[in-house]
Amino acid sequence: MENRSLVTIADHSREKIMYLIRMGQQFEQHPNRLLLQGKVVATLFFEPSTRTRLSFETAANRLGARVIGFADPKVTSGTKGETLKDTIMMVSNYADIIVMRHYLEGAARYASEIAPVPIINAGDGANQHPSQTMLDLYTIYQTQGTLDNLNIFLVGDLKYGRTVHSLLMAMRHFNPTFHFIAPDELAMPDSYKAYCKEHNIQYVEHKKFDADIISEADILYMTRVQRERFTDLMEYERVKDRYLLKLPMLAKARENMKILHPLPRVNEIEYSIDDDPHAYYFQQARNGLFARQALICDALGITLEQVQNDTTII
Ligand code: CP
Repeated sequence: MENRSLVTIADHSREKIMYLIRMGQQFEQHPNRLLLQGKVVATLFFEPSTRTRLSFETAANRLGARVIGFADPKVTSGTKGETLKDTIMMVSNYADIIVMRHYLEGAARYASEIAPVPIINAGDGANQHPSQTMLDLYTIYQTQGTLDNLNIFLVGDLKYGRTVHSLLMAMRHFNPTFHFIAPDELAMPDSYKAYCKEHNIQYVEHKKFDADIISEADILYMTRVQRERFTDLMEYERVKDRYLLKLPMLAKARENMKILHPLPRVNEIEYSIDDDPHAYYFQQARNGLFARQALICDALGITLEQVQNDTTII
């Protein structure tokens, strides 16, 4: 049987990404339907989340599915010693699809190999966050009218930021130029730079972060320094406030430039920027609903054509 899990965005072709964007656009037009009536979606969050879990659950609810799961592993039998394997096998008895966030890199891959139902990776450690990338791609397409030939600036924690790792891989189909801006301690890992070379993705590394640098950007993708991934909290304290976006730094920004952030924000974007027309992170988070409706449907074998011809719109 075909495995319809989503573990990494690297598995998706350009055509598949555009297909999912078109499906998301259908849901943006009509988010409330009964397309998933009778289905059960499980959300298993072994790590904290606000947006990812709630938007997946909203996506399922707005399509008529029922949702089970947990937001805190401390309330599960994992505390009694139950393994991830047994948890996944049990939940597969109850749900048609599992959305899972886990602190271990590779946990979603492992789950997808043992589960009889599709797994959607909602973030595995510092590795990948493919559903975030689908909403990022959706948002970039929405704001730029294309995914091709864009200047994308990634700022902040490029070492532990799983959203930038996934985005970088997905963009290999679209001839981007990436600009990496990070403290040395949080630089883009060599493995991802090697990935860029292997796939002819251009990238430039910067240390400065000012109006002149930002003037080249189509997308300015800010990220939070991931405190929870540090073993040395003194190092976190040293780097946590290194790159803060302030309003005057947008003075030379291109008209089309949009500021994205996967959120939560801690101290990367001044609140005064929220009302600036370049700020787009709250709309980006809203798009998570439509992108995740598309991902759930796709994992359950529902096609774009079925969504286009859907007669269950409420
Ligand atoms: N962007 C994101 O993953 O946010 P949450 O951690 O709140 O789910």
